[in-house]
Amino acid sequence: MKHIFNKGTDSTRPTLLLLHGTGGNELDLLPLAGKIEDKASVLSVRGNVLENGMPRFFRRLAEGVFDIEDLIFRTKELNEFLDEAAERYQFDRDHIVAIGYSNGANIAASLLFHYQQAIKGAILHHPMVPRKGIDLPDLSGKSVFIGAGTNDPICSPMESAELQSMLESANAKVKIHWEHNGHQLTFAEVDAAAEWYKQIFK
Ligand code: MLT
Repeated sequence: MKHIFNKGTDSTRPTLLLLHGTGGNELDLLPLAGKIEDKASVLSVRGNVLENGMPRFFRRLAEGVFDIEDLIFRTKELNEFLDEAAERYQFDRDHIVAIGYSNGANIAASLLFHYQQAIKGAILHHPMVPRKGIDLPDLSGKSVFIGAGTNDPICSPMESAELQSMLESANAKVKIHWEHNGHQLTFAEVDAAAEWYKQIFK
């Protein structure tokens, strides 16, 4: 997968996996990584799917309607890419924290839904429930921050709360943070995520 890897100065820190939103690329979230943790290695990946020229991490059939077969395939592809990247760049495969926005948050959530060992935790900015009707793996020991919007037109508050409850039922520790700026990612939300991260990944 097309990506950027920036080696950090402290290899004991988690590697930050950055996953952009629809139409974005691997450059978009780099400024966020510095706000979360300045010593960590950063792996920023570009989604392999194109929708009218816009990169995404998996196909959708319509706004908010996911192509589940492609979601499953692309989640596996990303998980395997993480195996390869850890080997190639020599970072700890079991110490990855994903930071995703929108479509990137959805594939990060999908990693949690499908693979017990894919990531250690995640900051999900405006995610949806990636898939319904499946049993999640045991997510004990995983920590997840959800940045949600009370007036997000793409991900309703009900869906944000549903994602929180599904992750909690699988034993993940979840913090949900509410903003009132639609689907936008705001500085206030990034600051809240950074605050949470500092407490969880001391
Ligand atoms: C998705 O397709 O993953 C969500 O609808 C969010 C987005 O617009 O990317």
